[in-house]
Amino acid sequence: MTTFYDLFMAPLEKRWLTDIRKTIIPSASGKVLEIGFGTGVNLQYLDCDQIDSVTALDLDFRKTNDKCDKDNITFVKGKAEQLPFPDASFDTVIETLVLCSVSDLETALQEIMRVLKPKGRFIYIDHVLPDDKALATLFKGINHFWPHIASGCNVTRTPHLSIARHEIEHIESGHRAHTIFRYGIVTKH
Ligand SMILES: C[S@@+](CC[C@H](N)C(=O)[O-])C[C@H]1O[C@@H](n2cnc3c(N)ncnc32)[C@H](O)[C@@H]1O
Repeated sequence: MTTFYDLFMAPLEKRWLTDIRKTIIPSASGKVLEIGFGTGVNLQYLDCDQIDSVTALDLDFRKTNDKCDKDNITFVKGKAEQLPFPDASFDTVIETLVLCSVSDLETALQEIMRVLKPKGRFIYIDHVLPDDKALATLFKGINHFWPHIASGCNVTRTPHLSIARHEIEHIESGHRAHTIFRYGIVTKH
């Protein structure tokens, strides 16, 4: 079943996000945790030969797409700011378009780093406050109402800068759409 979210995201997926997902999601390996699993759009880009297990975490799973092969996924209800897993549990953590709506960005990132094994990979895509001043001003204006109609989605955050402050090394990073979308693959020291 196509959800409202899929319909809303379709033009952005087609223009930018699919390309980014195809570039970075296949580098997930081993025990994988996806935070903010949503409709499960990243599943199709995983390289199954490299994956031991997938754990999908979200606040709830009512909107999970029917096309997901649910047999091979462990679904866990929970929140990014308080991950219900021991330290160093996962080889890879994936987060795409979730840090905009967590209640505490820094705590969520600390939790992601905590549950990653040393040398583990964090794969992310986020929309961020664009570099361009005019666009940034527009985003700040939109942000007065947008979180109220879009499930708490904040369009003025800069999660890529917060990620860079952690003890990590970037394997790959980039941006699209006038720096609105930032993505990367990092390894934890
Ligand atoms: C914009 S959707 C992104 C879905 C998917 N990751 C993608 O790339 O299309 C954000 C998802 O994050 C989930 N989410 C929001 N806040 C969260 C939190 N604090 N902890 C875990 N998941 C959260 C939402 O329920 C939703 O499924």
